[in-house]
Amino acid sequence: MDLQVVQDSEENNEAQAVRKRNHLDPSGEIIEPLVEYSGVTKSFGDLEIIKGIDLQMHAGEKLAFIGPSGSGKTTLGRMLMTLERPTSGIVTIDGEQIWQMKDKRGKWKAANETHLRAMREKVGMVFQHFNLFPHLSVERNVTLALTSVLNLSRDEAHERAEWMLKKVGLLDKLHNYPSQLSGGQKQRVAIARALVMRPKVVVFDEVTSALDPELVGEVLAVIKEIAKEGETAMMLITHEMDFAREVADRVIFGAEGLIVEEGTPEEIFDRPQSERLRTFLNRL
Ligand SMILES: Nc1ncnc2c1ncn2[C@@H]1O[C@H](COP(=O)(O)OP(=O)(O)OP(=O)(O)O)[C@@H](O)[C@H]1O
Ligand SMILES: [Mg+2]
Repeated sequence: MDLQVVQDSEENNEAQAVRKRNHLDPSGEIIEPLVEYSGVTKSFGDLEIIKGIDLQMHAGEKLAFIGPSGSGKTTLGRMLMTLERPTSGIVTIDGEQIWQMKDKRGKWKAANETHLRAMREKVGMVFQHFNLFPHLSVERNVTLALTSVLNLSRDEAHERAEWMLKKVGLLDKLHNYPSQLSGGQKQRVAIARALVMRPKVVVFDEVTSALDPELVGEVLAVIKEIAKEGETAMMLITHEMDFAREVADRVIFGAEGLIVEEGTPEEIFDRPQSERLRTFLNRL
């Protein structure tokens, strides 16, 4: 038997937990983050709204992002989606910079559209407003990018869409149009549309805040189910603190363009360290 296998089987649960927390693989090598923001700032005109963010996310990690309105949460999510370019600093996915690429001679240059598209394929995003195509059926909303971006055949795309719609509990709505769905159902289609692409990381930006209160539960339940399956990393921008506590491995509290505090859900919600976070939690 090779040595590695012996070591793995002898590693007890506690040792494994410590190793995973420190992002080490079984042989003690550091596991590179899936997503990394380094020294990221963003200004709109004279207004600096992100003031220097350093943040790492690992494969499969569920990260909740909480904080007051205007603190820059959506802007950070949009950067991953290549929709917003940092004013300074670097964002990488899988060790590759989003906004810079090397030319043939190894010199850095601004990313071209091909590079940006390749980076974007690693990321899914679900927004507050579902932005489904109203003139397309649920099936077509979910398969469109599979056929047009990933170049899957119509049959393959259909099969994947069925599998995904089953997961969000909407297989029976395959041939319906968005106008025939409730808000919660529309949002579940939007979730299916993002996940069917099998991105490495999905940004969920306040996906329940436009819903009637009685529809929030069904959407959060679907996200929880998908989170449990594990593989996809999730950035959950949310003001649903119970949900964040339940789903997240780690919670980030940002305010005024900076990360103020980060920790496990217990650390953030039960033992907040900063006055800023205590005030925020007390106001909810
Ligand atoms: N395209 C833009 N042009 C100018 N200002 C912008 C732009 N996008 C965002 N901002 C400003 O940047 C700040 C941060 O916005 P952002 O949407 O990232 O905050 P947020 O934390 O997501 O807030 P909320 O909780 O309300 O969604 C806000 O003051 C916003 O008005
Ligand atoms: Mg926002």
